[in-house]
Amino acid sequence: MTLPPKSPSRPHKVSLWRYLKLFRADILSAQPARLYRAWMAEFRTPFFRSYLCNQPDLVDLVLKARPDDFPKSARVREGLTPLLGNSVFVTNGAVWKRQRRIIDPAFEGGRLRHVFPAMLEAGEGAVQRLGDLADGQPRDIEAEASHLAADVIFRTLFSIPIENEVAARVFGAFRAHQRTQPVVNLAALIPLPAWMPRPHTRAARRTAGVIRSLILQLTEARMAEVAAGTAPGDLATKIMTTADPETGERFDTGEMVDQVAIFFLAGHETSASALGWALYMLALYPEWQSKVAAEAQAAFGTGRPEFSQMSQLVQTRDVFRETLRLYPPVPMMVREARCPETFRERAIAPGSQIVLSPWHLHRHERIWTAPDAFDPARYATDEGRKCLRDAYIPFSAGQRACPGAGFAMIEGVLLLAMLVRRYRFEPVPGRPAMPVAHLTVRGKDGIWLRITPRD
Ligand code: HEM
Repeated sequence: MTLPPKSPSRPHKVSLWRYLKLFRADILSAQPARLYRAWMAEFRTPFFRSYLCNQPDLVDLVLKARPDDFPKSARVREGLTPLLGNSVFVTNGAVWKRQRRIIDPAFEGGRLRHVFPAMLEAGEGAVQRLGDLADGQPRDIEAEASHLAADVIFRTLFSIPIENEVAARVFGAFRAHQRTQPVVNLAALIPLPAWMPRPHTRAARRTAGVIRSLILQLTEARMAEVAAGTAPGDLATKIMTTADPETGERFDTGEMVDQVAIFFLAGHETSASALGWALYMLALYPEWQSKVAAEAQAAFGTGRPEFSQMSQLVQTRDVFRETLRLYPPVPMMVREARCPETFRERAIAPGSQIVLSPWHLHRHERIWTAPDAFDPARYATDEGRKCLRDAYIPFSAGQRACPGAGFAMIEGVLLLAMLVRRYRFEPVPGRPAMPVAHLTVRGKDGIWLRITPRD
């Protein structure tokens, strides 16, 4: 059985300069192979110290047991501020807690039913668009996945499709923004020495400004609709009308712009990455593609999918889960130790960077059986379920876990089922995809597939 693609590891020992160079090219292949076996690894340099933790109880300690003692690193903030301002993704402490109290109710399990029709419409749009591309010619599926995930976010947040003029301009500006600083955001995620230049290039500042002014237009218009009592019942309205249960305050327009920017960025880049890799996995493993197609056919027939049918897509969900294990869209997260700690009998100084790596934890050789194999059936076993509990964090965990996790799991499974119900996806000979970490885990030169109608 051929294994799905995995980034190569770097040689065991390299100089700091070489490491930084490799790191700038791709954070994943800059790491040594031993991280797939280690419970903890210390990186000592003259400038900083960081600890990558793979031991499940350490990961639990940082994310779940004492998260307030391991806040987000200030370095994360640096690269992201021009775009995200004071958004929930970069704040800490009381400010962050207040923001989550207002945001979380919009994503509660029961509300997913309300966003389902908007996801469905985005899926139908994609099924139609792929019709023009389903001629067996090589196609970069990442571009399609990005377009689709952006459509989902605009429809669920603001009840507008990606074809809407402002939505299309935001989407275009995000792409331009990523081109101006493809790895800068990730550079901020890793403890590079403070003096190392992390240019917020002028171009990046300009594109961030364009995005924020477009989002401001959407947010102001919605504030007016809320005031007039004419606002649609989507995510934006829910968030803008939710008062903090502790203080009674709501987000003002400026704060809402910050939050919308992160919803768009976190919600569309990640889902697009996951969908692109899931389709690639189905192309590489056609037996799983047949199962997904059969499951979609059995659940939906030729009709419109309904929310209540989603629970029937058990194997499709396992395919999506397995994709998130092998290609976690957010490959690494960084926290900072506030107090002195002892991890695995080693003293950790305050200010040390604690790196949690879904990428390594999900492929850990001492935790997972056949860690590099694509095997969605593993989740039907007791062992697979135990690993899910102990060593599976594509959405992080604990109080700071992704608020969009439930949303993303419905979205990913629905879109996969809808696309595979209509089309067959095959790999393009001579064009394998290779994962690299940009803002999320993407194909080095895209993800190329051949699409044909299923019947
Ligand atoms: C497959 C899709 C997704 C994946 C894999 C994913 C993963 C993650 C991860 C790992 C984090 C934690 C990052 C950290 O702590 O450094 C996070 C945070 C976040 N995600 Fe997601 N996400 C996905 C989809 C979404 C969606 C659809 C939304 C919103 C519509 C969303 C909104 C957010 C927000 C607002 C945060 C910041 C939470 C906080 O810091 O308190 N995500 N996501």
